[in-house]
Amino acid sequence: MSSYASRVDTPAHALDDSGGAPTASRAALGRGASLGELNSAVWRRGGYLADYVGQHLRDGESVLLARHRDALAGRVLELGCGGGRITRHLIGTAAELHGVDIASDMVEHCRRTLPSATFGEGDIRDLSPFASAGADAIVAGNNLIDILDDDERGRFLDEVHRILAPHGLLVFSSHNLACVPLVKSPLQELSYHPLVAARQLAGLPRRLRGRRRLALLQSFSSEYAIVNDNAHDYALLHYYISRDGQERQLAAHDFRLLECVDLAGTAVAPGEIAYGCHELHYAARRVDPPQDGDAADAAAAPGDRSFAP
Ligand SMILES: C[S@@+](CC[C@H](N)C(=O)[O-])C[C@H]1O[C@@H](n2cnc3c(N)ncnc32)[C@H](O)[C@@H]1O
Repeated sequence: MSSYASRVDTPAHALDDSGGAPTASRAALGRGASLGELNSAVWRRGGYLADYVGQHLRDGESVLLARHRDALAGRVLELGCGGGRITRHLIGTAAELHGVDIASDMVEHCRRTLPSATFGEGDIRDLSPFASAGADAIVAGNNLIDILDDDERGRFLDEVHRILAPHGLLVFSSHNLACVPLVKSPLQELSYHPLVAARQLAGLPRRLRGRRRLALLQSFSSEYAIVNDNAHDYALLHYYISRDGQERQLAAHDFRLLECVDLAGTAVAPGEIAYGCHELHYAARRVDPPQDGDAADAAAAPGDRSFAP
């Protein structure tokens, strides 16, 4: 169990400054809508392209893309490619690159600006169109998989395992559980600087609406948390997990963690919580049962820390 477990054992209402009663979203979940559906509906509407057209890689992303360059040299599938921020860097390395996104404006932008790759609209909750063992590497940057709840995340990892070729590489990032206590509510985010606060006030009603809609859907456990953070004005609920929890989850779905780095690209070792770093970046490898002839991978316990570039 993570050493900070007690700190995330926070009741949902402790983070809620909306005073909101059960909401449409809670009713939607009650009717069987999953977290992934709720979040995907926000993204599918589009309108976020301007936020994702940059080229700048976070240091953690640069480190992993450089260190796993060889594994990224074949057929690469990028999930949630957005405006192509990471795609641009993958194109230089990959023999073949296909990007997928749920938002049509993102896909159209990528098709127009990155003609050497292919792009399609798709939903990471249904990866059935992709052939088994068809990709040498899969990239899911910018905490994409955190839109999914725990069950959906497990199914996603199983599907990624199926689509990856044996020994294939998965590169992704995820919100860091240690930072849940640092997540602020819309009112806590207001600046003491009068000019900044004045600007923030303009968007406050929208942020409070988002908060009121989703705060009661938050949940907290020692292994992971579902948190309504400030992304897109509190319109989303995100999954937060620790480095060690992520390693356990990967192992449960037949992946071996190769390495975890923080935003600055510094290694996060087993047992470290990287407090203050709100997202962690991971590289993992598909492992297969012994009958696939891979004695080395099969023998590697989840606790095997050796990094194989
Ligand atoms: C945080 S943005 C990241 C974009 C890009 N990877 C980047 O790092 O700049 C998440 C992207 O995932 C897409 N997305 C959200 N839910 C999705 C889903 N269910 N299936 C496929 N893409 C999804 C969004 O439309 C958005 O472009």
